Amino acid sequence: MMQQQDQSTEGKRTREHAVKLSDKDFAFICKFIYQNTGIVLNESKREMLYRRLTRIVRERQLSSFSDYCQLLKTQGDKEKDYFINAITTNLTSFFRENHHFEYLIKEELPRLMKTKATMANGKKRLRIWSSASSTGEEPYSIAITLNECMEKVLAKWDVKILATDIDSNVLAKGKTGIYDIKRIEDLTKHRKEHNFYQGCGNSQNSVKVHDKLKSLITFKQLNLLHDWPMKGPFDVIFCRNVIIYFDKATQQDLFARYYELLAPGGLLFLGHSENLGNYQQYFENVGRTIFRKPM
Ligand SMILES: C[S@@+](CC[C@H](N)C(=O)[O-])C[C@H]1O[C@@H](n2cnc3c(N)ncnc32)[C@H](O)[C@@H]1O
Repeated sequence: MMQQQDQSTEGKRTREHAVKLSDKDFAFICKFIYQNTGIVLNESKREMLYRRLTRIVRERQLSSFSDYCQLLKTQGDKEKDYFINAITTNLTSFFRENHHFEYLIKEELPRLMKTKATMANGKKRLRIWSSASSTGEEPYSIAITLNECMEKVLAKWDVKILATDIDSNVLAKGKTGIYDIKRIEDLTKHRKEHNFYQGCGNSQNSVKVHDKLKSLITFKQLNLLHDWPMKGPFDVIFCRNVIIYFDKATQQDLFARYYELLAPGGLLFLGHSENLGNYQQYFENVGRTIFRKPM
């Protein structure tokens, strides 16, 4: 009886040890995430971090968060990537913040169709970057918009949509182009029918985007904090609902780099709760969270 009690007390102690996220470990994790992703975590995110870390510590069969911090210090990029994937918030949807797509349809694409010069290859060049593309709903919404607006002329255009994200899991999901059917339930009947195939048999609750959309998009892993290999210029850049996780200095640094990569007259879309801060003076505000680089 006495022995049983000892064992259960010991078990409880071990569990308590395992579930306690010390201030020191929390500080280490916050710094690690900030240095590797730019994402700022503070006390308000402690609960979220705790939940996600608990899952990883269990998966790794470790007995404490300190052990996991040690693992992050000693293991190479593989553990780091796994951890970053677990920490990022990937919320997105098709035609999220629809006013941006409306602006493309009503203002920007008609303007570009009128003004774009034909290149030596006889085509007109259009480059769009979805710079935190998550699981792909954003770049596919851009591709659907282009198809709707430019379908008749698209063959005469050299169109490329670059979709990047730091998280390798969401990119892999985006590349498949396969989604739960519920993800498109708010789209119009026309959009559903013209852009998605519904699966059958075991896959009847899934849809797959048409190849004509997939062929416009290239998915690539890219950490916004690192060097950007592409030269641009981009006609449109989507930077939505990502800088919200960064501090002001990182945001300003990114805006300068987006500005450089945009063509004169190019557009930058930000998320609903984001703004350019001091960088606003270099752009013209042409709509809700829509900014144009001057010609
Ligand atoms: C909330 S989602 C936004 C998705 C989409 N832009 C939208 O508005 O619906 C934020 C995305 O930013 C990505 N992200 C976070 N830090 C990043 C970084 N340093 N470089 C590139 N992507 C990052 C995350 O992986 C996540 O998929």
